[in-house]
Amino acid sequence: MGSIAVCPGSFDPVTLGHLDIITRGSKIFDKVIVSVLNNRSKNPLFSVEERIELLKETTNHLPNVEVDHFDGLLIDYVKKKQANAIIKGLRAVSDFEYELQMASINRKLDEEVETFFMMTNNHYSYLSSSIVKELAKYEASVNDLVPPAVEKALRNKNRM
Ligand code: PNS
Repeated sequence: MGSIAVCPGSFDPVTLGHLDIITRGSKIFDKVIVSVLNNRSKNPLFSVEERIELLKETTNHLPNVEVDHFDGLLIDYVKKKQANAIIKGLRAVSDFEYELQMASINRKLDEEVETFFMMTNNHYSYLSSSIVKELAKYEASVNDLVPPAVEKALRNKNRM
């Protein structure tokens, strides 16, 4: 069996920071499954279907990247997909505590699944989906933060 990694997240919407991690991950693992959490407790701007569509459009040049969605515990999903790794990006020290907690819980739930962290490209260390949404809401330019398809989708949301 090849190495399969799950790259989980809300991706509301996918940013260039996410794509940097997905692209780098795809060079290391045989297959990367980018999976959107169907998180009912958050109030997302984009539906799960829209987020999946944007991810598919922006990763379709990466042949070993698949896009999917999940509900419930990440570790159960990882096992269901017969993956052996989770990949995450770390932007700053502020991400560390939460990610350490998540990685530790996931290891407690299944010792066979390893979490791998990649340091986000310095260009994107300040970038988050929330920042992008905030900028787009006030019609500030986000063209160097998200791929063109996402920029267009944000503009369309603003018109609604
Ligand atoms: O992009 P995000 O919102 O930072 O992604 C967070 C995500 C989806 C990776 C995280 O919330 C998650 O793994 N949720 C699934 C629930 C789970 O397994 N929690 C850990 C044990 S309590």
